[in-house]
Amino acid sequence: MPLQTNPDIRTMTIADLDDILVIEQASFMTPWKREHFEAEVSGDYSFPFVAETGGRVVGYVCLQSLFEEAQILNIAVSPEHRGQGFARALLVHACGVARDRNADRLALEVRKSSHEAIGLYLGSGFRQVGIRRNYYEASEDAILMEKNLKETT
Ligand SMILES: CC(C)(COP(=O)(O)OP(=O)(O)OC[C@H]1O[C@@H](n2cnc3c(N)ncnc32)[C@H](O)[C@@H]1OP(=O)(O)O)[C@@H](O)C(=O)NCCC(=O)NCCS
Repeated sequence: MPLQTNPDIRTMTIADLDDILVIEQASFMTPWKREHFEAEVSGDYSFPFVAETGGRVVGYVCLQSLFEEAQILNIAVSPEHRGQGFARALLVHACGVARDRNADRLALEVRKSSHEAIGLYLGSGFRQVGIRRNYYEASEDAILMEKNLKETT
């Protein structure tokens, strides 16, 4: 899906957290708290980014990158800005940062019921590498996915 507006992607700061928490609460059954994002903003191996359009934060991604494996810990786009390519742009950016840090692969976990997210990842070169039964609330499976960063896709 083409981007309707070209997003600016920049490093997340503490000043973004009020906007991010609104998106987080609208996006997840068990949303992260402020302190989770604060830890990402200050972590040595954490690389959190926001997507902005028209001066407004509309999405974010939290990447951790240490040695050969990088991980996506969180990604969300505000409900009113979904379907416009913001998550894909954030993911492309995160892959580029992980590659620059010499990570070989990018890993993540996703709820089996998150069809939008699974579609996003499959379309971005991730493949399923495992499953964790009853991982979320002891009732929903987590799908484990990875992208090989040495491949060009
Ligand atoms: C998943 C999420 C981040 C996608 O954000 P988005 O900005 O709408 O995604 P994009 O517009 O960049 O779309 C990228 C791809 O995602 C998939 N996708 C997006 N919306 C979809 C939908 N409603 N149904 C199926 N696939 C969808 C498609 O593969 C799409 O590629 P395409 O446009 O070429 O078909 C967003 O729906 C969201 O914030 N969901 C709640 C939080 C969440 O589940 N995060 C993931 C945790 S693992």
